[in-house]
Amino acid sequence: MLDIQKIREDFPILHQNINEKPLVYFDNAATSQKPTIVIDAIAEYYNTINSNIHRGVHTLSQKATDAYELSRQKIQHFINAKHSHEVIFTRGTTESINLVAAGFSQLLKKDDEIIISYLEHHSNIVPWQMACEKSGAVLKVIPMNEKGELLMDEFDNLLSEKTKIVAVNHISNSLGTINPISAIIQKAKVVGAAVLIDGAQATPHLKVDVQLLDCDFYCASAHKMYGPTGIGFLYGKEEWLEKLPAYQGGGEMIASVTFEKTAYADLPHKFEAGTPNIADGIVFGTAIDYLNSIGIQKIAAYEHELLLYGTEKLAQIEGIKFYGTAKNKTSVISFNIGNIHPYDIGSIVDKLGIAVRTGHHCTQPIMDFYKISGTIRASFAFYNTKEEIDLLVEALQKARLMLS
Ligand code: ALA
Repeated sequence: MLDIQKIREDFPILHQNINEKPLVYFDNAATSQKPTIVIDAIAEYYNTINSNIHRGVHTLSQKATDAYELSRQKIQHFINAKHSHEVIFTRGTTESINLVAAGFSQLLKKDDEIIISYLEHHSNIVPWQMACEKSGAVLKVIPMNEKGELLMDEFDNLLSEKTKIVAVNHISNSLGTINPISAIIQKAKVVGAAVLIDGAQATPHLKVDVQLLDCDFYCASAHKMYGPTGIGFLYGKEEWLEKLPAYQGGGEMIASVTFEKTAYADLPHKFEAGTPNIADGIVFGTAIDYLNSIGIQKIAAYEHELLLYGTEKLAQIEGIKFYGTAKNKTSVISFNIGNIHPYDIGSIVDKLGIAVRTGHHCTQPIMDFYKISGTIRASFAFYNTKEEIDLLVEALQKARLMLS
């Protein structure tokens, strides 16, 4: 059992009033709050070892390099990658997907096929459309049902020898659906396609093992994992990262440069041009230490409790309609109440101190599927409580009365 009150003490931001009401933070799928240990680690880096990495013989540079590389190893162990050089630091999930899609745009040929799904965030749609434009490849989309589950029979029909890469999310940010990625990966392997998993919504909530999954690429962002913004990772199998063309050119990513020819550095540096986000890279490791100290299995179990409690309580609101009722879900609840615009409800509950996200959540195709402009989304983290869910229900009842 987690001691939630004790855990809440780790997060200073939670102990404040917003609009004269105690803050209830239910926008964790957008970004998570940061524990003191993470906030302090940023100052600690700048106060003690700030210097450029992989460059200097001086002591500070070596200390910063060691801390940065230690953080890479923490990510490696967190996702059970085989080698630390299979972990590339990026600005986040979006940059990780762009890196792979840009590489594939050079490898793909006309009429090759890329498969994504209806449940994707725009960041796992647009980079593949760009890759299609550059290469002449064709984008195919796995459809979904009313519950927000992917239609696996349709996926079978889309797969062929032409499929070169399948890119899907582990968990839908809008609906919370946990996709059957093991099955997707196994099926893609049969036709020889690579698989990229967008794990942005998964790494804070469940155990990820990239070797067990046998995916070719997996990516996530630190800021959804109680770490800083502006840093994330791309995991890629060594053979794929060797094959993929470099993303950006510059210092750090080279072995040698002449005006005639440049030889690229070995992994992971081939994909890390320029001075990286050193401080946040190091502190990403601190966030992983924190997550490990709580325990991802315990987090998953508690958040599931919140999901069940929240779904049951919210269902009592007259006129509520849920979007995303998949059998396998994380702690995300998307809904609308009657014909009231989500933005209006979001604004009223904000006045009552409650932060939820409203809108299309960067997933316009899902909204088009349901023929709506957006939803209200409450997404829970392990520092949330059932009492906070009660406050949300109360606030929504008030909003409904005011707006209908
Ligand atoms: N992708 C983030 C969300 O779902 C920003 O809110």
